[in-house]
Order: sequence, then C-alpha cells, then structure tokens
Amino acid sequence: MKEPVRTAVFPVAGRGTRFLPATKAMPKEMMPIVDKPLVQYAVEEALEAGVTRLVFVTGSSKRAIEDHFDRDAELERALAVAGKQDLLSLVRAILPAGVSCVYIRQGEPLGLGHAVLCARPAVGDEPFYVHLPDDLIRAGTGCLAQLRAHYEVHGSSVIAVQEVPPGRTRDYGIVAVDENNRLQQIVEKPAPEVAPSRLAVVGRYLLSPRIFDILESTGRGAGGEIQLTDGIARLLGTDPVYALPFEGKRYDCGSKLGYVQATIDYALADPSLEAPLRAHLQTLR
Ligand code: UTP
Repeated sequence: MKEPVRTAVFPVAGRGTRFLPATKAMPKEMMPIVDKPLVQYAVEEALEAGVTRLVFVTGSSKRAIEDHFDRDAELERALAVAGKQDLLSLVRAILPAGVSCVYIRQGEPLGLGHAVLCARPAVGDEPFYVHLPDDLIRAGTGCLAQLRAHYEVHGSSVIAVQEVPPGRTRDYGIVAVDENNRLQQIVEKPAPEVAPSRLAVVGRYLLSPRIFDILESTGRGAGGEIQLTDGIARLLGTDPVYALPFEGKRYDCGSKLGYVQATIDYALADPSLEAPLRAHLQTLR
C-alpha cells in the first residue's frame, strides 16, 4: 500500500451499558473529559494524522454526535453578540474547513467487525484508520500519527498494542509477534493460560481495504458478535500486519475507573485547575 490515509472510521454504535443511566439518552462518546467530549479528542487525533474524511458508524441515541460536529448558527450568533470571541473561536474550530463527516447507521449492534464493514461505502478501496473513542490516549505525537509514521515506512496494516497484566488478557484481543513486530497470531479475549502473549490490541488500527472482503464472510465469533479481531486473523494469511507498541498513556474510558482516572489526569494538566485540584486531593485520605 502506498496511498495516503485520508479516512478515519469511528465505530460509535455500542450502547455503553457500563455507563447506564448516563448513556440512556446520551452517547458515551459525548461524555466529557474535563470540558471536551471523548469523540472530539478522537477527531483531533485523526486530524493530526492528516485525515480529511470522518466516518461515524452510529446507532440509536447518537444524534448528539452529529449535532456536535455541525455548525450551530444560533449559538455562534449569541456568542458574537455577547462579545465572547474566545468561545466563538473554540466552537468554530471543532471541525476545520475541508474536513467532511459521513454518518452511517449500523442497524443492529452485531459487533466491531460488522461496524467497520458498515463503513465500506464511505471508505472505498483505500487504507483507513479505525479509532475507538473510548480508548483515550494521551501522547506527545497522537497514536494515529504514530501508526501513520509506521505505515509510511512499511506500507502495511498496523495496529496499536500495549502490554497488559497476565490476568487481563480476557478483556482484549491479544497478539503474538515475531522479532520485527509482525503479527503471527491474534486471538480475541483469550484466557491467561492460552494467551499467546500479553500484548493487547487497543482501539487504534490502520487497515488495508482488503479487510472488507474478509469481514463480508466472517461469521460471529466471541460473544456472538462479528469480531474485527477474527477479520484481522484472516488478513494475516495474505497480508503483513504489524503491531506498534505506541508511546503514550491509554485510558479505558469505556470503564468507570478509566474514565475517572482520565478526568483527574487531564484536569491536573489544565493550568486553571491544577492547583485547586491538588489542594482538594490533599484533603482526601
Ligand atoms: P464495547 O465493547 O466498549 O461496547 O465496544 P459498548 O456497547 O460501546 O459498551 P458497553 O460494553 O455496553 O459498556 C467497543 C467499541 O466498538 C463499538 C463501540 O461503540 C465501541 O466504540 N461497537 C461495538 C460498535 O460500533 N458496534 C458494535 O456492534 C459493537
């Protein structure tokens, strides 16, 4: 593969049941870390990697995501009249000029592999990123830009991985790699006794469009869902796929603990909040 990667797919059709009741009427991707929704962090990371087309695979109760990336003329007028130029610029900068959004419904939540397949008509026959917004990664260079740098050298599919404790393999896709970090095997949520390693797939992928044909004929796997992991396992038969141990700190914002940890760390990194938050934390025992 040599083409530039122009498209990022954001599968956001999951119901986020771990955050009920918050997610009953609101997408979990709209939950803020301090003052910015998770999905906006995701889009900023994609823009940093050079993406110009954003494809959201959505489900019911996800309208707020479309509204967030749309212009809001009434709000902009109100901020202008009130002389709040900073806020006006902040709202206008959510989506830069020249970037387009495509929304595709996943009819039924049949799994991540199925969600990615739903994006096919918008992606076409080009390599593309998959970004799961509830995996928030804080890094000097964004994780997708790190995948892009790898792709520019190797011209192959590449997925972000990180080492997890032995007891946690059941929560992730786990990979086995050779000495060049080329994937030899990928398994969805293996028990620790059978896991091929402790290298876990996190929610960032750069994939060849050949994955689409494979997903068309991938049956239901773990949890009765069409798994992206199973599709990647079949892609290995014909294409090189690499694992990239990325640089950065990852927060699992699909879990309550990860979400709270991210909120604290991002608040501590905000100059207007750091001192009072540290003072507050010191009062806790
Ligand atoms: P999760 O496993 O986190 O599921 O999906 P979920 O439904 O979002 O959350 P819980 O477990 O009920 O709390 C991982 C990613 O895959 C997307 C989700 O939106 C999330 O970004 N996904 C999953 C889909 O888009 N469609 C699916 O059918 C399944």
